[in-house]
Amino acid sequence: MSQPSKRARCQSAPRDVVDLRSDTVTRPCFAMGEAMANAVVGDDGFGDDPTLAELERRIAEMVGKDTAMFVPSGTMSNQMAIRLQTQPGDLVLCHLKSHIMCHEYGGAAANSGVTLSGFDCEDPMPEMATVEKALALADNGRDSPLGLVCLENTHNDCGGVALDQQRVLQLADLLQAHNVPMHLDGARLFNAAVATGLSPAELAEPFATVNICLSKGLGAPVGSLLCMPQHFRQRARRIRRYLGGMMRQTGVLAAAALHALDAHLPDLVEDHRRAHWLAERLQTCPHVTVIPPQSNLVWFRLEPGHWLLESQKADQFVANLQEQGVWITGDGQLFRAVTHRDISDEQIDTAWHQLRAHLVRD
Ligand SMILES: Cc1ncc(COP(=O)(O)O)c(C=O)c1O
Repeated sequence: MSQPSKRARCQSAPRDVVDLRSDTVTRPCFAMGEAMANAVVGDDGFGDDPTLAELERRIAEMVGKDTAMFVPSGTMSNQMAIRLQTQPGDLVLCHLKSHIMCHEYGGAAANSGVTLSGFDCEDPMPEMATVEKALALADNGRDSPLGLVCLENTHNDCGGVALDQQRVLQLADLLQAHNVPMHLDGARLFNAAVATGLSPAELAEPFATVNICLSKGLGAPVGSLLCMPQHFRQRARRIRRYLGGMMRQTGVLAAAALHALDAHLPDLVEDHRRAHWLAERLQTCPHVTVIPPQSNLVWFRLEPGHWLLESQKADQFVANLQEQGVWITGDGQLFRAVTHRDISDEQIDTAWHQLRAHLVRD
């Protein structure tokens, strides 16, 4: 009887599908499954899961913070960071197209009683003038106190770009003078490290707290970590508990993450290479603008004159492509294709040929 392929231990999408919807769609490989099965575990409610302790120690060290706390999702990690560093009624400044602003379902208001104020620009950093204005209004008592500034690196909706570290440092200096901390949504911090050549700790240094996700490019099935100073840890445990994020034998998940750190981290550079490869080809399509990718996210836009827009067929583009086995996301004009560790050179080539067939009218 034939043995199942070791790579194909966990399956979701049909085998012939090229799933570029997100880097969250990866499935644990055989070796990761083995690591999970063999994990030495304990009850994290009592703080005695050794595999989890090892993961938290390693991530804290990599990100250059005193401590790191495992939570089920990046959303919870961001929400805990906001809860830890603000008072109800505070203003929290973040990008209008950030995950915290757009995809956390009003969590900051619901969990922390804060108002999110979004800065709007094509680039992922706020103008200094915008921050100076928020600080001046707060200092004059004409607006709520500015409790926290949140940035995202890499910035998903701005094209997966990495932040300009010089500008981050400048902003940190300004905020420090007003005692306003910064939180980094570093769901893809390791991608940012690959894109910039800076270490995760260097990128994280100006921030008081940092979220990192294991279930994106690293290819672990579940989990994020909130990296923070030691004095936050006790309150963070309490907040995690009342948000329902304290788990028990978490070492099973931590083992998957440790495997990912050892075996998957070096492959991020390959995801970036494939994204660049695809972007270069998409750029050759008439009336298509590609945001030059810096990481594993390829964003492209149909411009006026594109035949799909002219013929009112752009809304069906994603569905039609999906029928041909290539899955991306998009809203009829702006689209995203994401490379990840379950995508090979051959698959990205297949995706390009299908994309071209839909985008270019010969
Ligand atoms: C930039 C960013 N931050 C945070 C998150 C939240 O992660 P999770 O889905 O684990 O809640 C995501 C998820 O895609 C993300 O892209």
